[in-house]
Amino acid sequence: TGFITLDNGFVNTGSCTSAVTFLNGEKGILRYRGYPIEQLAEKSNFLEVSWLLYYGELPTKAQLENFEKKVASFNKLPEGLETIISTFPKTAHPMGVLSSATAALSAYYQDHLGPNPTDNDKEELFAQLLGQVKLIVARSYRNSQGLDPIESDSSLSYSKDFLNMMFGEADDEVAKALDVLLILHADHEQNCSASTVRVVGSSHANIFATISGGIDALWGQLHGGANQAVLEMLEEIKNAGGDAEKALEKAKDKEDPFKLMGFGHRVYKNFDPRAKIIKVQCDKVLEKLNVNDPLLTIAKGLEKQALEDEYFVKRKLYPNVDFYSGIIYKALGIPTNMFTAMFVLGRLPGWMSQWKELREDPAAKICRPRQIYTGATERNYKDLGER
Ligand code: CMC
Repeated sequence: TGFITLDNGFVNTGSCTSAVTFLNGEKGILRYRGYPIEQLAEKSNFLEVSWLLYYGELPTKAQLENFEKKVASFNKLPEGLETIISTFPKTAHPMGVLSSATAALSAYYQDHLGPNPTDNDKEELFAQLLGQVKLIVARSYRNSQGLDPIESDSSLSYSKDFLNMMFGEADDEVAKALDVLLILHADHEQNCSASTVRVVGSSHANIFATISGGIDALWGQLHGGANQAVLEMLEEIKNAGGDAEKALEKAKDKEDPFKLMGFGHRVYKNFDPRAKIIKVQCDKVLEKLNVNDPLLTIAKGLEKQALEDEYFVKRKLYPNVDFYSGIIYKALGIPTNMFTAMFVLGRLPGWMSQWKELREDPAAKICRPRQIYTGATERNYKDLGER
């Protein structure tokens, strides 16, 4: 079968060509379509960034307004799906609800199940999913709290509408902070969930199944699930008296599977530019909301200790995007088990842009890696009685 190269975890394998996101891990550079993440976080907004990722250029004023209207027009879920969400147990993990409900959209939009969506179909689906996944997340929260759903309000910005559907109110500055978080999460080249989207999409599965696969990949705590795990880790440290030393020792112990959550990254080996922006945002949000969260003090102490520790220095382990995001979500009143669903809201335009690029790439093939076989050589079947 020829020569096969083994690359566990695809550390050094380029799986595609892409013009969406540029990342330089040594220098801590992240750009969407050439625009530095720092500029986008400061000046843009989430729907504009979504457009940029998908179409490759910043939208004109008219294009952006049309797009905002289009996304806002998807302000309802099919009735049957509302019922499904409302019958999940209140204790259900929001990522399970989100993944199931996204896949379930396929039952209601069967015109979009064909293997070869047109450009128009793809554009429609992009706006539809941006609108409806937001509804699913908010509905799932309201159900978990035993509360009635709140209708989407198309006069509000994307982030403000989301907060309003969650809590029945939304402050401008808080919505802005959420918007920045979504921008920072919007794409990250060939990460685990984007690669999953590409793998599933490469079989020409429909978009609902494809995005549902991305959501599932994001759920794991080595990936998007880290934001929930970070907060649980910080709570644990707080409950044990606030001493971070034990967590650090546990993370360094090779016999112990525990890792310092929110630390380390496959590609960033200097710093994560998103974490830098989030740290500033975190201080701002807590000040604005007048929240004095001891977890922030613990997180800052833990970061300082880790950055001075030989184990972390030697392995170039720095805080990643998830280290501080949970503290902001918590201040916004979002329950810990919903943090990864917030990541989904942010990452959705990235997944859709990667899917579009894949489906329009004439060189794209079905993803079908090989293996190095290490099992038994040929042997003969033994009847039951002879074993
Ligand atoms: N705590 C303790 N040790 C660590 C950590 C950590 N958080 N991260 C990496 N290491 C060690 C690892 O044990 C290995 O040590 P050694 O060389 O002695 O075997 C070395 O550092 C290199 O790590 P690796 O596991 O080979 O690195 P990777 O690129 O396969 O994994 C990672 C990257 C992000 C999965 C990993 O750093 C990790 O598990 N971090 C904690 C979970 C986390 O915060 N994930 C969020 C990532 S950013 C957002 C996202 O992707 O969604």
